Amino acid sequence: MTEIIFEFLNKIGFAHPLHPALTHIPMGMVMGAVTFRMASFLPKLRFLAKTGYHCVILGLLGIFPTAFAGYLDWQHTYGGNWEFLIILKMVLAVILTVVLVSIAYMDDPETPKFDKKTLFYLVAVLLAIGLGFSGGELQYG
Ligand code: HEM
Repeated sequence: MTEIIFEFLNKIGFAHPLHPALTHIPMGMVMGAVTFRMASFLPKLRFLAKTGYHCVILGLLGIFPTAFAGYLDWQHTYGGNWEFLIILKMVLAVILTVVLVSIAYMDDPETPKFDKKTLFYLVAVLLAIGLGFSGGELQYG
């Protein structure tokens, strides 16, 4: 199936990896989520907690196509070889999904507090950094 997809994309003139373009959705949304969450603790900016929460939802939705494209690139470019960085990325992607789902269920952005839920936002950004770093190591060495 992977090769059928890449052959089709080649035929229509697209010869790039798929994953890097999609990574911007979860990466950007997680960065936005934590930034807006922190900004919501400033006087008069409480409403930004809702913006951060919405970033969490969109970032969560973006994880699935991003991970799938990562899987396709891994099969196509790296021959599906199991290496440490790929395993690390899979583990981090699963943990990030769990953390974002937990925020989506538990957080009440109407009354943001500097509590466990805010800590989850910070953990999400650390996981996103880990995914970006291991992805960069894979791509650029
Ligand atoms: C939320 C999940 C993920 C995020 C945010 C993410 C992020 C990234 C980033 C930022 C890069 C560097 C791209 C660049 O060069 O500009 C990258 C590369 C890469 N990632 Fe991921 N990644 C995720 C999940 C996965 C998964 C689950 C896999 C494999 C099953 C994977 C496989 C790869 C591969 C093979 C590369 C090297 C570039 C390529 O050929 O696509 N990633 N990733």
